Amino acid sequence: MMLRLEGITKFYGQFCALNGLSMEVEDGALYGFVGPNGAGKSTAMRIMCGILAPTSGKVSIDGKELRSGDQKQGRLIGYVPDSFGIYNDLKVYEYMDFFASCYGMTGLTARKRIEELLEFVGLSERSDFFVEALSRGMKQKLSLARALIHDPSILILDEPNSGLDPRSRYEFKSILSRLSDEGKTMVISSHMLNDISELCTDIGIIDHGSMVMSGRLSEVMKIVTSENPIVIGVETGLSRAIRSLKEREMVRSMSIKGNDILINFGGDRRAEAELLRELIEEGIGIRSFSRQKGSLESIFMQLTGHGEEKLVNAYENGRDEDQL
Ligand SMILES: Nc1ncnc2c1ncn2[C@@H]1O[C@H](COP(=O)(O)OP(=O)(O)OP(=O)(O)O)[C@@H](O)[C@H]1O
Ligand SMILES: [Mg+2]
Repeated sequence: MMLRLEGITKFYGQFCALNGLSMEVEDGALYGFVGPNGAGKSTAMRIMCGILAPTSGKVSIDGKELRSGDQKQGRLIGYVPDSFGIYNDLKVYEYMDFFASCYGMTGLTARKRIEELLEFVGLSERSDFFVEALSRGMKQKLSLARALIHDPSILILDEPNSGLDPRSRYEFKSILSRLSDEGKTMVISSHMLNDISELCTDIGIIDHGSMVMSGRLSEVMKIVTSENPIVIGVETGLSRAIRSLKEREMVRSMSIKGNDILINFGGDRRAEAELLRELIEEGIGIRSFSRQKGSLESIFMQLTGHGEEKLVNAYENGRDEDQL
Protein backbone atom coordinates (compact mmCIF):
# COMPACT_ATOMS: atom_id res chain seq x y z
CA MET A 1 0.00 0.00 0.00
CA MET A 2 1.16 3.49 -0.70
CA LEU A 3 1.80 5.93 2.11
CA ARG A 4 2.00 9.64 1.49
CA LEU A 5 2.74 12.64 3.70
CA GLU A 6 1.95 16.08 2.32
CA GLY A 7 3.17 19.30 3.90
CA ILE A 8 3.21 17.94 7.44
CA THR A 9 3.93 20.55 10.08
CA LYS A 10 4.12 19.82 13.78
CA PHE A 11 4.53 22.33 16.56
CA TYR A 12 5.22 21.33 20.15
CA GLY A 13 4.10 24.58 21.74
CA GLN A 14 6.23 27.23 20.02
CA PHE A 15 8.76 24.71 18.77
CA CYS A 16 8.51 23.62 15.15
CA ALA A 17 9.53 19.93 14.97
CA LEU A 18 8.29 19.29 11.43
CA ASN A 19 8.32 21.98 8.84
CA GLY A 20 6.26 21.09 5.78
CA LEU A 21 7.51 17.51 5.51
CA SER A 22 6.40 15.62 2.40
CA MET A 23 7.29 12.06 1.49
CA GLU A 24 6.00 9.25 -0.62
CA VAL A 25 6.46 5.59 0.21
CA GLU A 26 5.51 3.36 -2.68
CA ASP A 27 3.71 0.07 -2.35
CA GLY A 28 6.18 -2.62 -1.30
CA ALA A 29 9.02 -0.17 -0.67
CA LEU A 30 11.44 -0.56 2.19
CA TYR A 31 11.98 3.08 2.98
CA GLY A 32 14.99 4.11 5.06
CA PHE A 33 14.29 7.21 7.10
CA VAL A 34 17.47 8.82 8.36
CA GLY A 35 18.54 12.10 9.91
CA PRO A 36 20.44 13.51 12.89
CA ASN A 37 19.14 13.34 16.45
CA GLY A 38 16.19 15.66 16.84
CA ALA A 39 15.54 15.90 13.08
CA GLY A 40 11.92 14.86 13.58
CA LYS A 41 11.91 11.16 12.58
CA SER A 42 10.03 9.81 15.59
CA THR A 43 7.56 12.68 15.43
CA ALA A 44 6.92 12.00 11.73
CA MET A 45 6.54 8.27 12.35
CA ARG A 46 3.97 8.78 15.09
CA ILE A 47 2.05 11.00 12.71
CA MET A 48 2.30 8.37 9.94
CA CYS A 49 0.54 5.81 12.06
CA GLY A 50 -2.09 8.18 13.32
CA ILE A 51 -1.17 8.22 17.00
CA LEU A 52 -0.08 11.86 16.89
CA ALA A 53 -2.02 14.54 15.07
CA PRO A 54 -0.05 16.95 12.88
CA THR A 55 -0.54 20.70 13.33
CA SER A 56 -1.23 20.85 9.61
CA GLY A 57 -0.79 18.69 6.52
CA LYS A 58 -2.13 15.36 5.42
CA VAL A 59 -1.27 11.66 5.65
CA SER A 60 -2.92 9.28 3.22
CA ILE A 61 -2.89 5.55 2.54
CA ASP A 62 -3.63 4.55 -1.05
CA GLY A 63 -5.02 8.03 -1.58
CA LYS A 64 -7.40 7.92 1.38
CA GLU A 65 -6.74 10.43 4.15
CA LEU A 66 -5.69 8.89 7.46
CA ARG A 67 -7.92 9.90 10.35
CA SER A 68 -6.78 9.13 13.86
CA GLY A 69 -9.15 6.78 15.61
CA ASP A 70 -10.36 5.17 12.38
CA GLN A 71 -10.20 1.47 13.27
CA LYS A 72 -10.27 0.18 9.74
CA GLN A 73 -7.29 2.29 8.76
CA GLY A 74 -5.55 1.52 12.04
CA ARG A 75 -5.59 -2.14 11.10
CA LEU A 76 -3.49 -1.41 8.04
CA ILE A 77 -0.58 -0.16 10.10
CA GLY A 78 1.83 -1.82 12.52
CA TYR A 79 4.11 0.38 14.62
CA VAL A 80 7.31 -0.48 16.46
CA PRO A 81 8.03 2.48 18.75
CA ASP A 82 11.51 3.64 19.72
CA SER A 83 11.07 2.56 23.33
CA PHE A 84 9.48 -0.57 24.66
CA GLY A 85 7.56 0.73 27.66
CA ILE A 86 7.15 -1.00 31.00
CA TYR A 87 5.14 -4.16 31.48
CA ASN A 88 5.54 -5.43 35.00
CA ASP A 89 4.26 -8.91 35.84
CA LEU A 90 3.38 -9.74 32.27
CA LYS A 91 4.76 -12.80 30.54
CA VAL A 92 5.71 -12.83 26.87
CA TYR A 93 2.74 -14.95 25.88
CA GLU A 94 0.33 -12.84 27.94
CA TYR A 95 1.73 -9.68 26.41
CA MET A 96 1.05 -10.99 22.91
CA ASP A 97 -2.35 -12.32 23.96
CA PHE A 98 -3.32 -8.89 25.28
CA PHE A 99 -2.58 -7.24 21.94
CA ALA A 100 -4.28 -10.07 20.02
CA SER A 101 -7.44 -9.43 22.02
CA CYS A 102 -7.20 -5.73 21.18
CA TYR A 103 -7.70 -6.80 17.57
CA GLY A 104 -10.51 -9.16 18.43
CA MET A 105 -8.47 -12.35 18.26
CA THR A 106 -9.20 -14.96 20.90
CA GLY A 107 -8.97 -18.70 21.51
CA LEU A 108 -7.27 -20.93 19.00
CA THR A 109 -6.92 -18.21 16.34
CA ALA A 110 -5.00 -16.04 18.79
CA ARG A 111 -2.88 -18.93 20.02
CA LYS A 112 -1.87 -20.01 16.55
CA ARG A 113 -1.01 -16.47 15.51
CA ILE A 114 1.04 -15.82 18.65
CA GLU A 115 2.98 -19.06 18.31
CA GLU A 116 3.64 -18.36 14.66
CA LEU A 117 4.94 -14.85 15.40
CA LEU A 118 7.11 -15.85 18.35
CA GLU A 119 8.62 -18.51 16.11
CA PHE A 120 9.14 -15.94 13.34
CA VAL A 121 11.15 -13.60 15.56
CA GLY A 122 12.93 -16.45 17.36
CA LEU A 123 11.30 -16.08 20.77
CA SER A 124 9.37 -19.36 21.01
CA GLU A 125 11.53 -20.56 23.86
CA ARG A 126 10.84 -17.41 25.86
CA SER A 127 7.08 -17.41 25.79
CA ASP A 128 6.95 -18.15 29.52
CA PHE A 129 9.46 -15.45 30.48
CA PHE A 130 8.46 -12.22 32.14
CA VAL A 131 8.73 -9.41 29.60
CA GLU A 132 10.95 -7.48 32.01
CA ALA A 133 13.37 -10.41 32.06
CA LEU A 134 14.08 -10.15 28.34
CA SER A 135 17.23 -8.53 27.05
CA ARG A 136 16.97 -5.36 25.02
CA GLY A 137 17.37 -7.17 21.72
CA MET A 138 14.69 -9.69 22.68
CA LYS A 139 12.34 -6.87 23.65
CA GLN A 140 12.89 -5.36 20.23
CA LYS A 141 11.98 -8.65 18.60
CA LEU A 142 8.91 -8.95 20.80
CA SER A 143 7.91 -5.43 19.88
CA LEU A 144 8.08 -6.40 16.21
CA ALA A 145 6.04 -9.57 16.81
CA ARG A 146 3.41 -7.46 18.58
CA ALA A 147 3.29 -4.97 15.69
CA LEU A 148 2.62 -7.85 13.30
CA ILE A 149 -0.22 -9.41 15.25
CA HIS A 150 -3.01 -8.09 13.01
CA ASP A 151 -0.99 -8.71 9.82
CA PRO A 152 -0.74 -5.04 8.80
CA SER A 153 0.21 -4.06 5.24
CA ILE A 154 2.33 -1.14 6.40
CA LEU A 155 5.01 -1.34 9.07
CA ILE A 156 6.53 1.72 10.73
CA LEU A 157 9.69 0.83 12.66
CA ASP A 158 11.43 3.45 14.78
CA GLU A 159 15.08 2.45 15.29
CA PRO A 160 14.39 -1.27 15.59
CA ASN A 161 18.06 -2.18 15.33
CA SER A 162 19.56 0.17 17.88
CA GLY A 163 21.43 -1.52 20.69
CA LEU A 164 21.60 -4.90 18.96
CA ASP A 165 24.78 -6.93 18.76
CA PRO A 166 26.11 -7.72 15.26
CA ARG A 167 24.47 -11.14 15.10
CA SER A 168 21.09 -9.83 16.30
CA ARG A 169 21.34 -6.99 13.81
CA TYR A 170 21.96 -9.50 11.06
CA GLU A 171 19.00 -11.60 12.22
CA PHE A 172 16.81 -8.54 12.42
CA LYS A 173 17.83 -7.53 8.93
CA SER A 174 16.87 -10.90 7.52
CA ILE A 175 13.53 -10.79 9.34
CA LEU A 176 12.87 -7.39 7.77
CA SER A 177 13.88 -8.63 4.30
CA ARG A 178 11.48 -11.53 4.65
CA LEU A 179 8.65 -9.16 5.55
CA SER A 180 9.58 -7.02 2.58
CA ASP A 181 9.54 -10.10 0.31
CA GLU A 182 6.04 -10.82 1.59
CA GLY A 183 5.05 -7.48 0.08
CA LYS A 184 4.82 -5.30 3.16
CA THR A 185 5.43 -1.58 2.79
CA MET A 186 7.91 -0.47 5.45
CA VAL A 187 9.41 2.70 6.83
CA ILE A 188 12.42 2.18 9.06
CA SER A 189 14.42 4.80 10.88
CA SER A 190 17.94 4.05 11.95
CA HIS A 191 21.35 5.53 12.62
CA MET A 192 23.02 2.38 11.30
CA LEU A 193 23.59 3.68 7.81
CA ASN A 194 25.28 0.49 6.63
CA ASP A 195 22.22 -1.54 7.54
CA ILE A 196 19.99 0.96 5.78
CA SER A 197 22.04 0.90 2.59
CA GLU A 198 22.08 -2.91 2.56
CA LEU A 199 18.39 -3.24 3.22
CA CYS A 200 16.40 -0.38 1.76
CA THR A 201 14.98 0.28 -1.69
CA ASP A 202 14.31 3.95 -1.02
CA ILE A 203 15.68 6.58 1.27
CA GLY A 204 14.70 9.90 2.78
CA ILE A 205 17.12 12.14 4.64
CA ILE A 206 15.50 14.59 7.02
CA ASP A 207 17.05 17.51 8.89
CA HIS A 208 15.39 20.23 10.98
CA GLY A 209 11.95 18.85 10.19
CA SER A 210 12.26 18.95 6.39
CA MET A 211 13.32 16.45 3.74
CA VAL A 212 16.75 17.25 2.35
CA MET A 213 17.03 14.37 -0.11
CA SER A 214 14.90 11.42 -1.10
CA GLY A 215 14.58 8.86 -3.84
CA ARG A 216 15.52 5.34 -4.89
CA LEU A 217 18.61 4.31 -2.98
CA SER A 218 20.37 3.16 -6.16
CA GLU A 219 19.76 6.54 -7.84
CA VAL A 220 20.93 8.50 -4.82
CA MET A 221 24.09 6.39 -4.62
CA LYS A 222 24.74 6.75 -8.35
CA ILE A 223 24.66 10.53 -8.19
CA VAL A 224 27.15 10.60 -5.39
CA THR A 225 29.41 7.88 -6.74
CA SER A 226 29.77 9.46 -10.19
CA GLU A 227 31.29 12.52 -8.55
CA ASN A 228 33.75 10.51 -6.53
CA PRO A 229 37.42 10.31 -7.46
CA ILE A 230 38.93 7.41 -9.36
CA VAL A 231 41.57 5.64 -7.33
CA ILE A 232 44.48 4.27 -9.34
CA GLY A 233 46.72 1.83 -7.52
CA VAL A 234 50.15 2.09 -9.10
CA GLU A 235 52.67 -0.71 -8.67
CA THR A 236 55.45 0.62 -10.92
CA GLY A 237 56.06 3.94 -12.68
CA LEU A 238 54.38 6.27 -10.17
CA SER A 239 56.09 9.48 -11.29
CA ARG A 240 55.47 8.64 -14.92
CA ALA A 241 51.81 8.06 -14.15
CA ILE A 242 51.57 11.41 -12.39
CA ARG A 243 53.17 13.20 -15.34
CA SER A 244 50.88 11.49 -17.80
CA LEU A 245 47.76 12.25 -15.80
CA LYS A 246 48.69 15.89 -15.32
CA GLU A 247 48.66 16.47 -19.05
CA ARG A 248 45.09 15.32 -19.47
CA GLU A 249 42.25 17.78 -19.63
CA MET A 250 39.72 15.43 -18.09
CA VAL A 251 41.85 15.10 -14.97
CA ARG A 252 40.69 18.12 -12.99
CA SER A 253 42.70 17.54 -9.87
CA MET A 254 44.89 14.91 -8.36
CA SER A 255 46.14 13.78 -4.99
CA ILE A 256 48.58 11.10 -3.99
CA LYS A 257 48.34 8.75 -1.08
CA GLY A 258 51.14 6.21 -0.86
CA ASN A 259 51.02 4.30 -4.12
CA ASP A 260 47.48 5.40 -4.87
CA ILE A 261 46.63 8.31 -7.13
CA LEU A 262 43.22 9.86 -6.63
CA ILE A 263 41.95 11.81 -9.59
CA ASN A 264 38.91 13.95 -10.04
CA PHE A 265 37.95 12.80 -13.52
CA GLY A 266 35.52 14.58 -15.82
CA GLY A 267 34.99 11.78 -18.34
CA ASP A 268 32.29 9.15 -18.74
CA ARG A 269 32.75 5.40 -18.34
CA ARG A 270 34.10 5.05 -21.86
CA ALA A 271 36.70 7.72 -21.19
CA GLU A 272 37.60 5.89 -17.98
CA ALA A 273 38.26 2.70 -19.92
CA GLU A 274 40.29 4.63 -22.47
CA LEU A 275 42.39 6.22 -19.74
CA LEU A 276 43.15 2.85 -18.18
CA ARG A 277 44.17 1.38 -21.55
CA GLU A 278 46.47 4.31 -22.32
CA LEU A 279 48.19 4.18 -18.94
CA ILE A 280 48.88 0.49 -19.42
CA GLU A 281 50.20 1.12 -22.92
CA GLU A 282 52.57 3.69 -21.44
CA GLY A 283 54.08 0.86 -19.46
CA ILE A 284 52.75 1.88 -16.07
CA GLY A 285 52.13 -1.05 -13.74
CA ILE A 286 48.56 -0.68 -12.51
CA ARG A 287 47.28 -2.81 -9.68
CA SER A 288 43.78 -1.37 -9.35
CA PHE A 289 41.56 1.20 -11.01
CA SER A 290 38.10 2.08 -9.74
CA ARG A 291 35.72 4.84 -8.71
CA GLN A 292 35.75 5.33 -5.00
CA LYS A 293 32.43 4.02 -3.76
CA GLY A 294 29.97 6.52 -2.38
CA SER A 295 28.67 5.67 1.05
CA LEU A 296 25.40 6.65 2.60
CA GLU A 297 27.46 8.01 5.45
CA SER A 298 29.29 10.50 3.24
CA ILE A 299 25.99 11.69 1.73
CA PHE A 300 24.53 12.02 5.19
CA MET A 301 27.49 14.07 6.39
CA GLN A 302 27.36 16.36 3.38
CA LEU A 303 23.65 16.97 3.53
CA THR A 304 23.20 17.36 7.23
CA GLY A 305 26.50 19.05 8.08
CA HIS A 306 26.44 22.56 9.39
CA GLY A 307 29.77 24.11 8.60
CA GLU A 308 33.02 22.20 8.66
CA GLU A 309 31.52 18.75 8.42
CA LYS A 310 30.63 19.60 4.84
CA LEU A 311 34.28 19.14 4.01
CA VAL A 312 33.96 15.47 4.82
CA ASN A 313 33.22 14.24 1.35
CA ALA A 314 34.59 11.97 -1.27
CA TYR A 315 38.09 13.03 -0.30
CA GLU A 316 37.85 11.66 3.18
CA ASN A 317 40.75 9.35 2.38
CA GLY A 318 42.99 11.96 0.81
CA ARG A 319 44.30 15.12 2.39
CA ASP A 320 43.99 18.62 1.01
CA GLU A 321 47.68 19.40 1.33
CA ASP A 322 48.37 16.42 -0.91
CA GLN A 323 46.62 18.09 -3.81
CA LEU A 324 48.94 18.68 -6.73
N1 LIG B 1 6.65 15.72 23.28
C1 LIG B 1 7.49 16.67 22.89
N2 LIG B 1 7.41 17.93 23.39
C2 LIG B 1 8.25 18.90 22.98
N3 LIG B 1 9.21 18.73 22.05
C3 LIG B 1 9.34 17.53 21.51
C4 LIG B 1 8.49 16.42 21.89
N4 LIG B 1 8.85 15.34 21.18
C5 LIG B 1 9.87 15.73 20.41
N5 LIG B 1 10.17 17.04 20.59
C6 LIG B 1 11.21 17.82 19.88
O1 LIG B 1 11.00 17.68 18.49
C7 LIG B 1 12.23 17.52 17.81
C8 LIG B 1 12.18 16.24 16.98
O2 LIG B 1 12.19 15.13 17.86
P1 LIG B 1 12.11 13.62 17.34
O3 LIG B 1 12.03 12.75 18.53
O4 LIG B 1 11.02 13.52 16.34
O5 LIG B 1 13.52 13.49 16.61
P2 LIG B 1 14.25 12.19 16.01
O6 LIG B 1 14.62 12.53 14.61
O7 LIG B 1 13.41 11.00 16.21
O8 LIG B 1 15.58 12.11 16.87
P3 LIG B 1 16.42 10.81 17.38
O9 LIG B 1 17.32 10.44 16.24
O10 LIG B 1 17.22 11.36 18.53
O11 LIG B 1 15.46 9.74 17.76
C9 LIG B 1 13.32 17.54 18.87
O12 LIG B 1 13.90 18.81 18.91
C10 LIG B 1 12.59 17.25 20.16
O13 LIG B 1 13.19 17.90 21.25
MG1 LIG C 1 13.65 9.23 17.28
